[in-house]
Amino acid sequence: MRIALIGYGRMGKEIERHAVERGMQVTARFDSKNSDVSAGAHEFDVAIHFASPDSVITHVQMCARRKNNMVVGTTGWSKDMGKVWSIVQEQNIGLVHAANFSVGVNIFFRLMKDAAKLFDRFLEYDVFLQETHHKDKSDSPSGTALTLAEILLHNISRKKELLNTPPSGKIRPEQLHISSTRAGTVVGNHSVTFDSVADSIELTHMAKNRSGFALGALLAAEWIDGKKGIFTMEDVLSDIFQ
Ligand SMILES: NC(=O)c1ccc[n+]([C@@H]2O[C@H](COP(=O)([O-])OP(=O)(O)OC[C@H]3O[C@@H](n4cnc5c(N)ncnc54)[C@H](OP(=O)(O)O)[C@@H]3O)[C@@H](O)[C@H]2O)c1
Repeated sequence: MRIALIGYGRMGKEIERHAVERGMQVTARFDSKNSDVSAGAHEFDVAIHFASPDSVITHVQMCARRKNNMVVGTTGWSKDMGKVWSIVQEQNIGLVHAANFSVGVNIFFRLMKDAAKLFDRFLEYDVFLQETHHKDKSDSPSGTALTLAEILLHNISRKKELLNTPPSGKIRPEQLHISSTRAGTVVGNHSVTFDSVADSIELTHMAKNRSGFALGALLAAEWIDGKKGIFTMEDVLSDIFQ
C-alpha cells in the first residue's frame, strides 16, 4: 500500500516509522509549507491526515478530487463534520476519522460504556473526567475526552450537559465536568472517576508514546482501502470486538 502523510510532525513521523516496518510505502509527505496535495505527480492509495484542524476541509476536497481515500486523525474540526460528510458522499470516497486511533483507547471507550451503564443505576455516584496533554496541544478539551464525555452523557441519565471550563461556583448535578491540564511532554492521559461518599473508582488510560495512535491509523488505512463512505475507528474494530 502507498501512503501519503498530510502533516509531517510528531504523528506523521511516527506513522512513517511504523509504515516502513509493516512494508508499506510512504510516497508523499506534506506540511504547512508544502500543503497542496493536488500538485505534482504524487501517487498514493490512502492519505493519512495528522495536521491542523483548519486544513481538514481543504485536504478532504483535494483527496476527493483525486478519488483517494483518507484516514483523518487530526482533532478539533468537529464544526466542519457536516461539510466533510457532504464531500465524502458527493465524491464517493472512503474516510475514517477518530479522535483517538489507539486500539487501547478504543477498548477503554467500550469499558466506559459498560461502566456508565452500571453507574447509571447507582445515584450516589457522581462522575467526572480529567485529561492531561503536552503543552503544545492546540485543542482543549482533547477529542478523546469529548468522546468519553459523549459516552457518559449518553449512558448516565442524570448527566445532561458538559462543563469544560473552570466552574464559577458550585456545579449543577446534571453537569459533567471535564478538566484539562496542559504541561510538559505528556502524550495523553484520560481518567474518569465515579465518586461516592463510600468509595471512588477511577478508570485511567495513559498513552506511553505515540506508537498506539500510529499503529491504529495504519490499521484504519488498510481497512478503508477500496471502501466508500464515512466511518470511525469503532467500525474498523467492530469485527475484532464482536
Ligand atoms: N486521532 C489520534 O489518534 C491522534 C493522536 C495524536 C495526535 N492527534 C492529532 O493530530 C494532529 C497533529 O498532531 P502532531 O502531534 O503530529 O502535531 P505536530 O507535531 O504539531 O505536527 C503537525 C504537522 O502538521 C503540519 N501542518 C500544519 N498545517 C498544515 C497544512 N495546512 N497543511 C499540511 N500540513 C500542515 C505541520 O507542518 P509544519 O511542520 O510545517 O509546521 C506539521 O508537520 C493534532 O490535531 C493532534 O491533536 C490525533
